[in-house]
Amino acid sequence: MTISKCSRVLVTAGAGGIGRAITEAFVSAGASVFVCDIDEAALQQMQAQWPGVRTAVCDIADRAAASRMVADAASALGGLDVLINNAGIAGPTASVEELDPDAWEAVLRLNLTGTFTVTQQAIPFLKQSGSGVILIMSSLAGRFGYPNRSPYATTKWGLIGFAKTLSRELGEFGIRVNAILPGAVEGPRIQQVLAGRASASGRTVEQEEAAALANQSIKHFVDPADIAALAVFLASDAGRSISGQMIPIDGDSQSAS
Ligand SMILES: NC(=O)c1ccc[n+]([C@@H]2O[C@H](COP(=O)([O-])OP(=O)(O)OC[C@H]3O[C@@H](n4cnc5c(N)ncnc54)[C@H](O)[C@@H]3O)[C@@H](O)[C@H]2O)c1
Repeated sequence: MTISKCSRVLVTAGAGGIGRAITEAFVSAGASVFVCDIDEAALQQMQAQWPGVRTAVCDIADRAAASRMVADAASALGGLDVLINNAGIAGPTASVEELDPDAWEAVLRLNLTGTFTVTQQAIPFLKQSGSGVILIMSSLAGRFGYPNRSPYATTKWGLIGFAKTLSRELGEFGIRVNAILPGAVEGPRIQQVLAGRASASGRTVEQEEAAALANQSIKHFVDPADIAALAVFLASDAGRSISGQMIPIDGDSQSAS
């Protein structure tokens, strides 16, 4: 199972976390990769490690900047075959009743509208590819209700509708669109989430971790490298009949909280 050696790949928010693992997997598979992120230092570190990777500082929540970035990426890569819409923030931990409306809008601006902007700008290039692939990073929170995380869950459910609609619109152009739904991923972000839950519940972080794993059949958090391997598979010819799907990778989680 390989991707085409000449695949041209754009990864949003690819300098850290899951996006970095995805970048590494596509680089290892021989693809040409363009990464954008808001973290300039992390981008520089990435380029030092993988000199072939092109990078740009870009806030995906900034519509004009995100639009320019897609054009720059396609120009630098000589076209575009694979778009990985990875950028997304967790947002606040608060009930709907107590949520700051500005925080609500900030999550929608990046997770939903940012993904829309990047995708809209990328579509003409993906059509030219003839075998384009769009992957959209949803979440376990795109399958369940998620108390005290309403903007996050709302955007991650919204991205499922976006992916399924894109699949219907773009299939005739040879473009496949799928959503990946990771569960809790190993790393600093899950620790932050568990700390947020602990401060809301009064329990310890360790108790929150045990409770989170109790919801899963497979008793470990997800390795970002496994999500990256799934992304490479979906972008490869082996995935050529898969489109419009929501693909969980979450140890069979039964709840988002
Ligand atoms: N980590 C998890 O447990 C988990 C679970 C399910 C889904 N997800 C989703 O996977 C994606 C990546 O999550 P992660 O945990 O790797 O994220 P992260 O918080 O580790 O951040 C990854 C990168 O995003 C960059 N970034 C943040 N805001 C940005 C912006 N406005 N524009 C451009 N780049 C920006 C950061 O600088 C960082 O390099 C997100 O869409 C997230 O919702 C994560």
